[in-house]
Amino acid sequence: MKVNAPLLQVANIVAGYIPGHPILRGVNLRAEPGKITVILGPNGAGKSTLLKVISGFLPPEEGVVKLGGADIVALPPHRLIEHGVALLPQGRSAFPELSVVENIELGGWTLRADRKRLREAVAAMLARYPHLRPLQDRAAGSLSGGQQRAVEIARLLVPNPSVLLIDEPSVGLSPIVAHQVYQELVALKEEGRTILLVDQDVRAAIKVADFVYVLNSGRNDVQGDRSAFEGDLGAMVRGWLGV
Ligand SMILES: Nc1ncnc2c1ncn2[C@@H]1O[C@H](COP(=O)(O)OP(=O)(O)OP(=O)(O)O)[C@@H](O)[C@H]1O
Ligand SMILES: [Mg+2]
Repeated sequence: MKVNAPLLQVANIVAGYIPGHPILRGVNLRAEPGKITVILGPNGAGKSTLLKVISGFLPPEEGVVKLGGADIVALPPHRLIEHGVALLPQGRSAFPELSVVENIELGGWTLRADRKRLREAVAAMLARYPHLRPLQDRAAGSLSGGQQRAVEIARLLVPNPSVLLIDEPSVGLSPIVAHQVYQELVALKEEGRTILLVDQDVRAAIKVADFVYVLNSGRNDVQGDRSAFEGDLGAMVRGWLGV
């Protein structure tokens, strides 16, 4: 499946949770179409806050978010999904008491008026992730961490988004399962999707990155392409982050 993704641009974003106490203090970045753009930074730097702003969960006090030239700043999340922007939030986000299929169906908000298309989209996800098929009626909470992550990614893909905002996808997973998650992100990029990846696993994220931004205290710090971060810059960043 080939996706034609637009350029995502973020300019001068100021945002926070308490008026007058911004967490993001003028953040700028570009996520190129069909590339993986990684955001690194210490705990509390504002990485998740930035993804919440881009995905419409947190309207910024100032700044611009543009998708293919159109201003999308402060559109509500359900409108952003219609524009092809989807967020995988930090932490577990599958509903533990709902079945695998019910969780995947939750990604079909934009298809809700068309039950047939929704059923087809869910079936396509079970075909894409065949290891979920025998688990489809199980409660998501009874699955392993890696299986739950696959359910969450399947849910994310139901509306066929072109821009994926992914927040710390490998936390709590075994190294083998984490590796599979990064391989899946590369596969999604190869389909033409734009990926903005926030990660604490600096090494793993740099390996799949086309471009890297570092955020610190709500501002841009160093940035560069993967090759810059594979060398001294990567060692420096790992040093700051204590990894
Ligand atoms: N819902 C909220 N209400 C108030 N403050 C919040 C909220 N969410 C985050 N914050 C604060 O905003 C700051 C930035 O948090 P954010 O979650 O964006 O950081 P992060 O870079 O994603 O960190 P981590 O690596 O720990 O996930 C922190 O000081 C945090 O305490
Ligand atoms: Mg975070």
